[in-house]
Amino acid sequence: MALKMKITYSTMSADNEELQSAFDAAFAKVRQSMLGLEVPMFIDGEKVYAGEKTRACSPVDTSLHLCTAQKGTAEHARMAVSAARAATKGWAATPWQERVAMLRRVAQTIRDHNFELSAVMVLEVGKSRLEALGEVEETADLVDYYANAMEKNHGYINALGKTNPDDPHESNMSVLKPFGVWVVISPFNFPMALAGAPIAAALVTGNTVVFKGASTTLYTGWLTAQLFAEAGLPPGVFNYVSGPGRTVGQELQDNPGIDGWTFTGSYEVGMQVARNALAGRYPRPAIIEMGGKNPTVISNKANLDKAVQGVVRSAFGLDGQKCSACSRVYVHKDVYDDFVGKLVTSTRKLKVGDPSTREAFMGTVIDKGAYEDYQKYMAQAQQDGQVLVGGSTLTDGDYAKGYYVQPAIVAGLAEDHPLVKNELFLPILHVAKVGSVEEGMRLANDTQYGLTSGFFSEDEQEARYFLDNVQAGTVYVNRASGATTGAWPGIQAFGGWKGSGMSGKGVGGLYTLPLYMHEQSQTWFK
Ligand code: UN1
Repeated sequence: MALKMKITYSTMSADNEELQSAFDAAFAKVRQSMLGLEVPMFIDGEKVYAGEKTRACSPVDTSLHLCTAQKGTAEHARMAVSAARAATKGWAATPWQERVAMLRRVAQTIRDHNFELSAVMVLEVGKSRLEALGEVEETADLVDYYANAMEKNHGYINALGKTNPDDPHESNMSVLKPFGVWVVISPFNFPMALAGAPIAAALVTGNTVVFKGASTTLYTGWLTAQLFAEAGLPPGVFNYVSGPGRTVGQELQDNPGIDGWTFTGSYEVGMQVARNALAGRYPRPAIIEMGGKNPTVISNKANLDKAVQGVVRSAFGLDGQKCSACSRVYVHKDVYDDFVGKLVTSTRKLKVGDPSTREAFMGTVIDKGAYEDYQKYMAQAQQDGQVLVGGSTLTDGDYAKGYYVQPAIVAGLAEDHPLVKNELFLPILHVAKVGSVEEGMRLANDTQYGLTSGFFSEDEQEARYFLDNVQAGTVYVNRASGATTGAWPGIQAFGGWKGSGMSGKGVGGLYTLPLYMHEQSQTWFK
């Protein structure tokens, strides 16, 4: 359903009756007719069912049965890769204009079902209504963005120069061609955008695809797969498998029939996929998007209200489970007390609650493992630093049904403390006092990661200094709607430096599609 107002990650308020009542209707429909169903895999144009099943339940209410999914095996992954292999030739030869048209249909289908897709995602990931709708809209925009990019670049077929400009017989062309079979492995936190976008990029550039989502988002995984499974593609062009990482996931790393990967997830697994891509007979491309430990630096010349708003949204939106989340703040000593006071006040006001309700800003963390990690990290924080606000799990009344935790702010940890160095993927923010913007910058950059970064200052020279020196791929100055989060296709290219990414190019940006193709320079004397 189309809303009067466009929803993005920068939308500041969910106080919109049209949006909220559309959501109410979607939840009613989802609860009535879309939960508890069995969802298939999709291989070689057919729905495929495994011998074993997985029962997927909600982190919002662990007794809520979302769907029954297939516990696929390594053999299913092999079948999917073979089917994708057999389809490569035909799909690569399909005119790019047809592939573009297919993407546009997919984007439209997403928009037609945006509220139901969002409602399922709220229940499956535990994210708020606004975060979920933002993601669904982002997926449609990403798919469209790649369709437009293909068109704008004329299918990446371009004439080059000539040895002899007057020779009518000489022709030199640069042609970007697909690699072949492309594997997409996506994480739980943006189960539709971080799957739909790379699938669309791989398909529109002429690759065939095998997709596997996260084991905690099996319903959204299938609903995303279904968009492509039902887009009228020839058999084998798009395949979807589900099942354990150690079997299905492993096969999708090891299979020699794979020509390239898009992996989004942890640093550890990302590095493994990257190494693996070099382990075959020849190097293969891998687009690896890994984690972050994203800093925000607050100058003494910052507008503190903007800074507080930006940091709160980026640290605690989606319960801190974004690779773009802000997890470290370095505050100039002159404004430290003032900033931290406002930050704590603002954090106390955040509403944690059932994310299917209108009011919740934070929902749940993804699963029991994350819930227990939160408890473990907060115990360490209590012991080694000061907890300024939050830090407990929530268990009273309806909270007992799911994995609810408070947003937490911690101070006083040493810079080399594991909670300051490692990605936690939880709503835990560390704040530290610095003597100068330069010191803040040095500490901000002192990390193995380099995904996103934020800065607040009303001084233009300082802002320029930040942009010139910050080591991260996606950076923001004075952004109240998100200090480090909320990149949008065509507006921010989203990607990381250092241990956050490998390609050096962002998602939803000018250079994304060429990553999915190799170049052929064709010289022809006619
Ligand atoms: C992630 O955080 O896992 O910019 C990737 C953002 C989102 C990030 C997606 N587009 O916050």
